[in-house]
Amino acid sequence: MSQSKKLGILLSGRGSNFEAIADAIESGRLDAEIAIVISNRADAPGLETAKRRGLNTKLIPSRGRVREEHDAEVVAALKEAQADLVCLAGYMRLLSPEFVRAFPHRILNIHPSLLPAFAGLEAQKQAVDYGAKVSGCTVHFVDEHLDHGPIVLQKTVPVLDSDDAHTLSLRILEQEHIGYAEAIQLVLSGAIEVEGRRTVRRTGKAEGK
Ligand code: GRF
Repeated sequence: MSQSKKLGILLSGRGSNFEAIADAIESGRLDAEIAIVISNRADAPGLETAKRRGLNTKLIPSRGRVREEHDAEVVAALKEAQADLVCLAGYMRLLSPEFVRAFPHRILNIHPSLLPAFAGLEAQKQAVDYGAKVSGCTVHFVDEHLDHGPIVLQKTVPVLDSDDAHTLSLRILEQEHIGYAEAIQLVLSGAIEVEGRRTVRRTGKAEGK
């Protein structure tokens, strides 16, 4: 039997996506293990949750640090934990090119909009303010540009007339919690490959569990 692939989770805040990933592993929907949870913020609730769940955690504060130096420390911790795939889960830092190169097509991010619409901060508010009728979330490979790399999957939700940024965020978050684990499973199973900007199903290879 092959060993489960190892995830390195990076977060800066609440950590509900991290929890959804951990829950998917526990319930057997996702064949992986969490090798390490790293936060760049001491006050991230997600870091406490990870400790409570008995996971390997590490705080690597970023405030006032040069990006490349901080990133080098994070990469070293991920390598030490033998992470196969890095999952950004509300990690509020742009990665340096060195970081991205250390894990080629092995870093995922989740963003609460249908990219390329509404990249950056407050994506849900941007969607409401713009008057979008549909929004959702995107799981994508990370490159050195913000919210930019090849898309693994997207989930859509309606934007209702009665929505504000908060109610839309809640509707999108439900889909984030489903979609992130699905995307990780897709990537780890080897069922998709990256062709330029696109990810495509590998032909002749069954989607492994
Ligand atoms: C999510 O909306 C995610 O899409 C975005 O940051 C938020 C993180 O939430 N990148 P949480 O910390 O996972 O609860």
